[in-house]
Amino acid sequence: MEMNKGQRLYKLAKKLIPGGTQLLSKRPEMFLPELWPAYYKKAKGCEIWDLNDKKYTDMSYMGIGSCILGYTDEDVDQAVIKVIKEGTMSTLNAPEEVELAKLLIKLHPWAQMVRYARTGGEAMAIAVRIARAKSKKDLILFCGYHGWHDWYLSANLADDKALNGHLLHGLSPLGVPRSLKGSSFPFQYNDIESFLKLIHKYKNEIGVIVLESIRNVYPIKEFFETISNEAKKINAVVIVDEVSAGFRLNLGGAHLLFGLEPDIAVFAKGMSNGYPMAAIIGKKEVMKVAQDTFISSTYWTERIGPAAALTTIKKLIEKNVPKHIGDIGRKVQEGWRLLANKNNINIEISGIPPLGHFSFKYDNPLIIKTLFTQLMLEKKFLASTAFYASYAHKDQHVKKYLEATDETFNFISRAIKEKCPEKYLKGSICHSGFQRLT
Ligand SMILES: Cc1ncc(COP(=O)(O)O)c(C=O)c1O
Repeated sequence: MEMNKGQRLYKLAKKLIPGGTQLLSKRPEMFLPELWPAYYKKAKGCEIWDLNDKKYTDMSYMGIGSCILGYTDEDVDQAVIKVIKEGTMSTLNAPEEVELAKLLIKLHPWAQMVRYARTGGEAMAIAVRIARAKSKKDLILFCGYHGWHDWYLSANLADDKALNGHLLHGLSPLGVPRSLKGSSFPFQYNDIESFLKLIHKYKNEIGVIVLESIRNVYPIKEFFETISNEAKKINAVVIVDEVSAGFRLNLGGAHLLFGLEPDIAVFAKGMSNGYPMAAIIGKKEVMKVAQDTFISSTYWTERIGPAAALTTIKKLIEKNVPKHIGDIGRKVQEGWRLLANKNNINIEISGIPPLGHFSFKYDNPLIIKTLFTQLMLEKKFLASTAFYASYAHKDQHVKKYLEATDETFNFISRAIKEKCPEKYLKGSICHSGFQRLT
């Protein structure tokens, strides 16, 4: 059997880099321990070449949601190459920052000012800092996943399972100052009661309310209305996190679709096709407080991010990419449904069309998930129980993927009937959520 060069490198990586990778969701253990190709040589459209030069079609996370147009998009890359040639850093500022601010404000008429960062988590930390500075109150209520920063992980100091319902399980707050205990509290999406309970308990101490515009289910109208109304009553700043959802359902933040008018909205992975960029946009009276607190970093001034974002957003508009990824995502979700029925497999599908998921409804879901990934990899697909659609995914990719899924579900169905699906695994079972690598 051919040696997996990626796995050999990953073994070394785990000795040199604690946790192996910089992002939990890119750990090979999250997909197929010991067998996942782990590293790439080249990526184009929705295809990836591993270190052994094997080519796969990515029907999984597309750079964990960062490549909405597809890998190495020609237009975005040309814009980036242009600024690389002209200089991506200098003592003076990048004019693209201003053009991008104008474009973001045009798409979000409720906002008047913009700041930039380069990653989703840090942009959220900036938004929270501005919101606390504006409200002059420390306490945060939040819903959803918002990154690795102290303000967020501190919720797990009071209750180590507080964050479990918010995308990633088992996030450890070790190293987060214990003095932050009791400074942020989670509520559940669409659960008005859980939100109001916290409002009644902490009322005027609450300075910030943070939520994702959408993750797995569409919002109930009253949920957003209640948040807006209560925030006004207690003078709390509302931050909507569009890091994952932004630009996927529509041209801009998904909150625009649902009639939620926040004070701040935060964008990152949907806006710049794989080049680091993040934006914090907001109402003038809130954003101008960013001048009264120190928020400043050298590399937030580099030029690649704004150049990539401008070209990406213009292309999203020109090609109506949200419609394309919605159509492709719906076809994949419909395929999962039909093929699961056909092969007698019990799955539950969730997520918005461009960011779809399914889970195997069995006592041993991780074994079956691992087997699915293993069998799909053998058919040259990077696949897991999620599909993030990109503009590079076309009908022919979906067709081939669903043919492979049909065969794989059929195999799994027989393995389940035999009552011992694990005997087909060639490595160990995939991880779920955060855990230490041994
Ligand atoms: C909604 C949301 N907020 C924040 C983040 C953190 O972004 P980043 O990984 O760029 O720090 C993510 C990442 O997945 C996200 O989905």
